[in-house]
Amino acid sequence: MENKKKILLVLAAIALVVALIFVPRLFTNNNPPAEVPVESEKQNAYDYMVLVNKQNKLPDDWEEKVVLKEGHNIYGETHLVEEKALAQFELLREELLKEGIDIELDSTYRSVKEQQKLWDDWTVEYGEDYVKTYVAVPGYSEHHTGLAIDVCLDVDGKRIDDNDEMIAQREIFAKIHPHLADYGFILRYLEGKDDVTGYGYEPWHFRYIDDVETAKEIMAKGMTFEEYLSSKN
Ligand code: DAL
Ligand code: ZN
Repeated sequence: MENKKKILLVLAAIALVVALIFVPRLFTNNNPPAEVPVESEKQNAYDYMVLVNKQNKLPDDWEEKVVLKEGHNIYGETHLVEEKALAQFELLREELLKEGIDIELDSTYRSVKEQQKLWDDWTVEYGEDYVKTYVAVPGYSEHHTGLAIDVCLDVDGKRIDDNDEMIAQREIFAKIHPHLADYGFILRYLEGKDDVTGYGYEPWHFRYIDDVETAKEIMAKGMTFEEYLSSKN
């Protein structure tokens, strides 16, 4: 082969390789993916297993991160709840309605200021000992997280929300509690576990942990959240 032809052949081969590499790129979008924040990462960037109790204060950055949504009860009240907790609560409520049980939002997210007001009002109304049994010191309430829901009961059109009256509704709560874990909730202040939780029995205080399997384990074992967390450490 003449030298000229050889050179042409080599050049043609190079051109072919270059074309094979670069031409397909003209038809593909090689821009890096847009930096669209994934909604689920942008929001809910907090620990649903957070422990807030008499020894553990609300994390400092919680308030700026928590996503609260408005929930409504049949009494025309609006209550703020963390968004996933609210969605699951609504499903839990619907499930219980099928059994003729009506749980309604009673007290949900509370700012530190609101907790202080509750503490002060109840101290005047019920005395300090009673308050210490049922109300957390401002800054140390699970209600600051938005993940805690106190329900009241609507029985035959009557609202039941008084602590003692609620505790007396044993039959109703015995039907409610087995459903909690299916929606990612646990019962937070168990009967006879005051020494562990620091509070009296609150059959109405449901805590959302966003993990159905763990909730089922905690409820099946009759554990407090404190006991469960320390069993894992
Ligand atoms: N009732 C619970 C203990 C609270 O005040 O957070
Ligand atoms: Zn509560």
